[in-house]
Amino acid sequence: MKKYNKHIFICVNDRGSDNQRQSCAKCGGMDIRMKFVKLINKHGLKGTVRANKSGCLDVCELGPAIVIYPDEIWYTNVQLDDVDEIFQSNIINHKPVKRLVANDITWNKLQLLKELKN
Ligand code: FES
Repeated sequence: MKKYNKHIFICVNDRGSDNQRQSCAKCGGMDIRMKFVKLINKHGLKGTVRANKSGCLDVCELGPAIVIYPDEIWYTNVQLDDVDEIFQSNIINHKPVKRLVANDITWNKLQLLKELKN
């Protein structure tokens, strides 16, 4: 038996305002997490769906980042306005939002961004 049907990890890592490196707290991670929490409560899914704060998911250049288990679906550059659609489609209807799901192009872009910094 699974503990949760869906377990959402939302990066809220905060490197502080002095740090030049991107972090998801700077670009809306906390608000995104709270919106998921509110939607879980609104739909009576507390206990079966959980929205956890996460530390850095190592995709900082493409944040805010979230990952949903057990599907292991990653979303990057998530905007607050995307949360309703992700919730309705991926959490309620078990269908990832294709236009927002990270894919090979996403990971290649991330790799390039990381190489440019080095
Ligand atoms: S700070 Fe969010 S992925 Fe690294």
